[in-house]
Amino acid sequence: MAEQKKLLRALSGETLDTPPVWMMRQAGRYLPEYKATRAEAGDFLSLCYNSDLAAEVTLQPIRRYGFDAAIMFADILLVPQALGADVWFVTGEGPRLSTITTADQAAALKPADAIHDKLAPIYETLRILRRELPAQTTLIGFAGAPWTVATYMIAGRGTPDQGPAHALKDTDRATFEAVLDRITEATIQYLLMQIEAGAEVIKLFDSWAGSLKGDDFNKYALAPARKIIAALKAKHPTIPVIAFPREAGPAYEGFAKAVGADCLALDTKVDLEWAAEVLQKDGCVQGNLDPKLLVEGGDRLISETKRIVKALSNGPHIFNLGHGITPDADPENVHVMLEAIRG
Ligand code: CP3
Repeated sequence: MAEQKKLLRALSGETLDTPPVWMMRQAGRYLPEYKATRAEAGDFLSLCYNSDLAAEVTLQPIRRYGFDAAIMFADILLVPQALGADVWFVTGEGPRLSTITTADQAAALKPADAIHDKLAPIYETLRILRRELPAQTTLIGFAGAPWTVATYMIAGRGTPDQGPAHALKDTDRATFEAVLDRITEATIQYLLMQIEAGAEVIKLFDSWAGSLKGDDFNKYALAPARKIIAALKAKHPTIPVIAFPREAGPAYEGFAKAVGADCLALDTKVDLEWAAEVLQKDGCVQGNLDPKLLVEGGDRLISETKRIVKALSNGPHIFNLGHGITPDADPENVHVMLEAIRG
């Protein structure tokens, strides 16, 4: 049997001499070859739905850096679009969507099993990648967690405090929960299809989990993640899941076990000594270099990278960033980071 891929070994709980590494948003605007392919596709959403070009931009950072994992190129906002929302991107500003603020609008969303026509190109991207990736590279599929996706669907855009989603939750809980439930069902179906198309690991991005507090966190971040992961594991018990409850703070503790995840992705604020002691005993952790350091470069990039590797060296660890790499990052600094990890 071929030796197991490094990323899968870490996810199964093995402590490795050097951690496997990949980066959130590793296919993106800091790479000139990404910008060229996006221009060829026309715009960002056309790139997501063009399987050949989406596979190409997924492969670009693998060729350049030899990362241990490739994350399929797509976006968390394709699920709202498949559910019938209008989605578009305003250059320099970010996503825009038709808003959902009423029970009628929630009821007008498509049923969860109607998403696959629209999302078929994503499954095709995964099939291409399974053929074309190097043998040692693990293919990651993903979706947004229901709360994070709902914040965009309700507000119609990104918001600093997720105010509109909190407002709907607090004034019309039934409508809010109907939206969340529909996203949860669609996400289960989407991720099952990703696994069937070749995804070897699934990551669930709850980028705005930190704005849910107390019981709301349990009901709208933890419970949907548990439901999604249980549905995936019921059919595919060996597919590992990485959960990213970004900025959950103390609620990171116990989260992996509570939702059934194999790995917790850590944001930049998580203290590593605490993570090593409290989180790593439940399984693999992934993180958490500040993406700003890939803009800044230099000694601080090297020392912080080494500090993370060392702090998490006594348990299963995947080196990654605490959030996505930014367009102003210097591609050369990624080599500096890799050299500091791999020596
Ligand atoms: O390389 C990868 O990580 C895979 C592809 C990927 C993208 N988005 C591509 C993308 C993944 C995993 C995502 C996840 C995503 N998308 C999240 C969760 C992770 C996070 O960053 O918190 C969220 C919240 C989104 C929604 C989204 N997509 C926003 C808010 C934006 C605009 C901000 C920005 O960076 O421009 C996007 C656009 C987007 N998604 C880009 C890319 C490469 C940039 C679009 C472009 O090329 O112009």
